[in-house]
Amino acid sequence: MVVETLVVAVWAMLPAYIPNNVAVLAGGGRPIDGGRRLDDGKRILGDGKTWRGTAFGTAAGVVVALLLNALNGLLGLGLPEFPITAAVGLAFGAMLGDILASFAKRRTGRKRGAVFPVVDQLDFVVVALLLTAILSFGWFRETFTLAVIVAVIVLTPILHVGTNAIAYAFGLKDEPW
Ligand code: CTP
Ligand code: MG
Repeated sequence: MVVETLVVAVWAMLPAYIPNNVAVLAGGGRPIDGGRRLDDGKRILGDGKTWRGTAFGTAAGVVVALLLNALNGLLGLGLPEFPITAAVGLAFGAMLGDILASFAKRRTGRKRGAVFPVVDQLDFVVVALLLTAILSFGWFRETFTLAVIVAVIVLTPILHVGTNAIAYAFGLKDEPW
């Protein structure tokens, strides 16, 4: 059923959706690249990728997965249960995807906060799914059927643009993307 596919897609991706938003709230302090530049004269990652944002974002994604597990059991929802390997894969994979995208942005001359269509919306999905497939292959194959993956790819940009617009409206983010 289509609705069930959509519900499973959002549920299974929640631990990957949360980290970037928490990083926006928790970010600051020392940038991961320590201010260093590559030979192209541009920052490796830029000031928008910090240790604190990454750590809090990853932790928040894992905590959300554990909370969803509790909720699932409590209410008998019958939705996918997250093994810890999947929780880490989704949460850290999301952060890693965002970090790799910043690396790509800097290499292509984009300044911090510059818009990078498609990459901005899907970078974290691709790496979250890849890392989860590596860390928790059995669970990944059971949960992310082709239909669920298609749903994730269609839904994520919509949810991403929506939440970023809200964060921008509330003054939490400097740009609406
Ligand atoms: N953030 C962080 N650590 C991360 C990701 C995000 O601290 N790993 C925080 C930073 O304060 C960042 C904000 O969240 O400025 C918004 O994240 P994002 O849009 O990914 O970064 P940008 O500042 O737009 O930088 P970039 O151009 O590199 O994406
Ligand atoms: Mg940005």
